[in-house]
This record gives sequence, structure tokens and C-alpha cells, in this order.
Amino acid sequence: MSTTINPNKALWEKGDFTRIAETMRESGEALVTTLGITEGLEVLDLGCGDGTTALPAARLGANVLGVDIASNLVEAGNARAQSLGLTNCRFQEGDASDLSELEDDSFDLVVSIFGAMFAPRPFDVAKELVRVTRPGGRIVMGNWIPNDPTLVAQILKISSAYTPPPPEGFVSPMTWGIEKNVLDRFAGAGVPADKVSFARDTFTFDYPRSPAQFVDEFRNYYGPTMNAFDAAEKNGKAADLQKELVDLFTSQNTSTQGTKIPATFLRVTVTR
Ligand SMILES: C[S@@+](CC[C@H](N)C(=O)[O-])C[C@H]1O[C@@H](n2cnc3c(N)ncnc32)[C@H](O)[C@@H]1O
Repeated sequence: MSTTINPNKALWEKGDFTRIAETMRESGEALVTTLGITEGLEVLDLGCGDGTTALPAARLGANVLGVDIASNLVEAGNARAQSLGLTNCRFQEGDASDLSELEDDSFDLVVSIFGAMFAPRPFDVAKELVRVTRPGGRIVMGNWIPNDPTLVAQILKISSAYTPPPPEGFVSPMTWGIEKNVLDRFAGAGVPADKVSFARDTFTFDYPRSPAQFVDEFRNYYGPTMNAFDAAEKNGKAADLQKELVDLFTSQNTSTQGTKIPATFLRVTVTR
């Protein structure tokens, strides 16, 4: 009997994304305070990781379901919710491209911060986001922007030069950072353009040690960077990749104490 590997799931179960998420907590909490969360609001956090935004939303009184494709992150999220005594926040495994386990019109607010953008089949993702949001409810996505000069787009750009081209038909997650694509995808889900708005926002990575040590965290624990180093090693280019990333992280660091790197993203708000 053969088991089919889901490469999207395997990518995010690789390493340990919680190590990177630890550096994103403050911005996650700050973002959640801008979402108009009120007691009892039904919230879905899609591609929630270990709860960087789900847990602060629950602390503000929302009933939060976190859904993520990676079983290790679902487990980490549930452990964090439990240790904080947050009985109004739970995590379960699921795929943003097919949320058939969730009913139509279930949530007042669907949040996906650098989450659903990584799922395959973006038109299906938009349909699922809309389907599970109740009429009058909102969807808020945070999407990295292709070719943006700040950290994440540059990590991906540098890494892509060391990795083999993606399989035919692969749609880059970064296409969710282009307004026209976002409008097309939500139009495909029946949402007119005047219900979709855009803003530029910033997430600041905050790591207590040096930029070079922060690169090591990515190299050892962040699936996409681990894959880039695997490919670079095969070509004897790992040292070049390391150098490019250390130069990038160092040049973008705004702190003298440790590492603080602001990164720009596209904030998308959809009213259902
Ligand atoms: C960059 S992390 C962001 C996690 C979290 N939102 C945060 O801000 O810390 C991307 C997340 O999307 C999840 N993900 C990727 N593809 C997914 C899919 N098809 N369905 C659900 N989650 C997915 C990953 O497992 C990972 O937790």
C-alpha cells in the first residue's frame, strides 16, 4: 500500500515553525488589537501555526478555532492554549484549500496571517474563506508581497535562486500579495471588488540574539529555508546562501541589542 505525501503539509511539518513564531508574538498581538474583537465573536484563524494571533484573539474574549495543515503546530497550539487556561481556543488540523469539515456561514471573522497564502489552489482557498464566513462577517488576510524590499520577500527571492524550479502549474504563495490576484480570486468566490480593501502593514521579527544566529534559526527550523539549504548543499552552494542571508538579515536589522527586522505585508479585508 502506498501513502501519498502532501508536499504542502510536509513542508510545514518539517523543522519547527514555533521557533520562528516566537519572534513574531508582539506583532501578532498588536495586529489582533486592530481586528475589533468583542466577547463571544466566532473567529477562525486559518493557517494559524501555534497560535500567534489565535491566542491573543481568545484572550480578548473571542471563541477561536485555529486550523492548520501541520499536525505538530496544531499540537503546539493546543498545548499553549491549555497552559494559558484558554478554554475558548482550540486547534485542529485542516487544509485551507478544502475546509469541508467546517459548515457554511460559521464565523464572524476569519483571520489568516501568512497562512492561507501558502495553501495550493488559491481560487479554492478564496471560495472556502467566503463560504465559512457568515453574511456580514469579515475576512482579514496578511500576505507577503512579491519583490518587496523587506525581509520575507527577500528571503524567498534569495532562496529561490538556490532551489530547482517548482513543478509545472505551481502557483507561488506570493501571488496573494498582488492586489489584482486577490480581487480575481475573491471575484471567483462571488465577492465584488468594492467589498475588498487593501492596506500596507508591518510585522516586526524580534529575536534576542544576532542576525547571523537568527539566520541559523531559519536554516534549522523553517521548512522553506531548510529546503533551500538542502538544495544548495547538493550543489556545494550552502556557504553562498548562508552569506547572502546573513548579509540580508544584518542590513535589515534595526536593533543594536539583538535582531529586530520590520517586514511589510499586504493586509486584505473582505466584507462578506
Ligand atoms: C508562515 S506560517 C504562519 C503561521 C501563523 N499564522 C503565524 O502568523 O505565526 C504559515 C502557516 O500556514 C500553514 N499552512 C500552510 N499550508 C496550509 C494549508 N493548505 N492549510 C492550512 N494551513 C496551512 C502552515 O502549516 C503554517 O503554520
